[in-house]
Amino acid sequence: MRTIIEPFRIKMTEPIKLISRADRMAALEQAHYNVFLLKAEDCCIDLLTDSGTGAMSSEQWAALMLGDESYAGSRSWARFEATVRQITHARHIFPTHQGRAAEGILATTRIARGQLVPSNSHFDTTRANIEYVGGHAVDLLCTAGLNTTAELPFKGNMDIEKLANCITEHGAPHIPFCMVTVTNNTGGGQPVSMSNIRAIKETLRPHRIPLVIDACRFAENAYFIREREPGYQDKSLLEIAQEMFSYADAATMSCKKDGLANIGGFFVCNDDQWAKDFRNLLILREGFPTYGGLTGRDLEAIAVGLLEALDYDYQVYRHATVTYLGDRLIDRGIPIVRPVGGHAVFCDAREFLPHIPPLEYPGIGLVNALYIAGGIRAVELGSLMFGKFDAQGREIPAPLELVRLAFPRRVYTQSHFDYLIEVIDEVWANRQRIPGYRLTYQADFLRHFTCHLEPVAQ
Ligand code: F0G
Repeated sequence: MRTIIEPFRIKMTEPIKLISRADRMAALEQAHYNVFLLKAEDCCIDLLTDSGTGAMSSEQWAALMLGDESYAGSRSWARFEATVRQITHARHIFPTHQGRAAEGILATTRIARGQLVPSNSHFDTTRANIEYVGGHAVDLLCTAGLNTTAELPFKGNMDIEKLANCITEHGAPHIPFCMVTVTNNTGGGQPVSMSNIRAIKETLRPHRIPLVIDACRFAENAYFIREREPGYQDKSLLEIAQEMFSYADAATMSCKKDGLANIGGFFVCNDDQWAKDFRNLLILREGFPTYGGLTGRDLEAIAVGLLEALDYDYQVYRHATVTYLGDRLIDRGIPIVRPVGGHAVFCDAREFLPHIPPLEYPGIGLVNALYIAGGIRAVELGSLMFGKFDAQGREIPAPLELVRLAFPRRVYTQSHFDYLIEVIDEVWANRQRIPGYRLTYQADFLRHFTCHLEPVAQ
């Protein structure tokens, strides 16, 4: 088979540079060993997130110029609405400035204190928005999803039996809605099968519990369904996405991922009362319902980006980049989540650094080592990000200690990844010398963004 190539050429460049090792060590110390507090220009290859970091296409840049900045009922809104409706077939569509704004308004309007929201795995902002209004975010991931090495096709699936038990135990009145995150970001970017989405819906239906899709990476999930689930090989990614949304009563979306835009989000739903409540708070928090915190040009760029994300050749290329890195790390025996996910390679920090106990955050140890070794910025998805405490205030370790190397869309080339592999090789060879970390400051929620840390003496 011929090499899979980038289905685009590069028209604009942005310089990156590698500061010296001494400067990287000083920068990290100044950032209190929290890479979120580094200056981006001190990061040579920035794999912190795939969110809002993609390169827009020439079609998107051209669409920006068509932005209609009218306050109400702009032409750009009409284009955005038509595109989102084409994909989701939803009755009500609301733009928001990003995904968490949609989550926050959904949580505020639908969740009463003490209620429960099950999911395969909630993302950190989703969990925080649910908990902020007094709800409980419950993860019901299938058992295979916690096994980082089992080569199974749909490790993002929800455990349907656990969902049924959760409904029996707590009762439908305590469950305002159920969510499913596609792909499952916190569990390694693993996809959810169409049959699982259908089974979730069938389990909820008799109890009249609505299903909300966290759709950030819906196009990548559609690609995995086409590649891995029998019966979908002749369908377009758009058709697959349409079927996924057909089982949902509502969806939250961050267009910073599979909208291929630098900002934006939306909420869609079919229920008129949900829409009414959402609209009223949207006006208070985000803006008039035809712009929802976005400019007309953002709406244009997203309308183009959502369909570009559903382009099959684009998804083939994207998956090839993730697999390229994943295969080379597997060849070296470096522990990563397998199979590789849709938007990132996730290293298993517990296996990588077995000498660091979970509450000294092995993921942070690895993230900081990657920065010092090569100016690579990655992110921890482990006990620091998902920090939980028991009734006595004791910290509970997360089930997985992962480090995510997220791939910005259409940004880095193969030589960037070859460089990254050399850096990981160096870190792997010197792994025994990597320290754990302790917190010196933390906020009450979403602590990983702003916390301060220091290395624990070995
Ligand atoms: N849901 C999922 C699954 C996400 O991955 C994110 C964001 C959100 C919701 C919130 O969207 O950022 O637009 O408010 N994930 C980014 C990440 C931040 O790095 O994975 P947002």
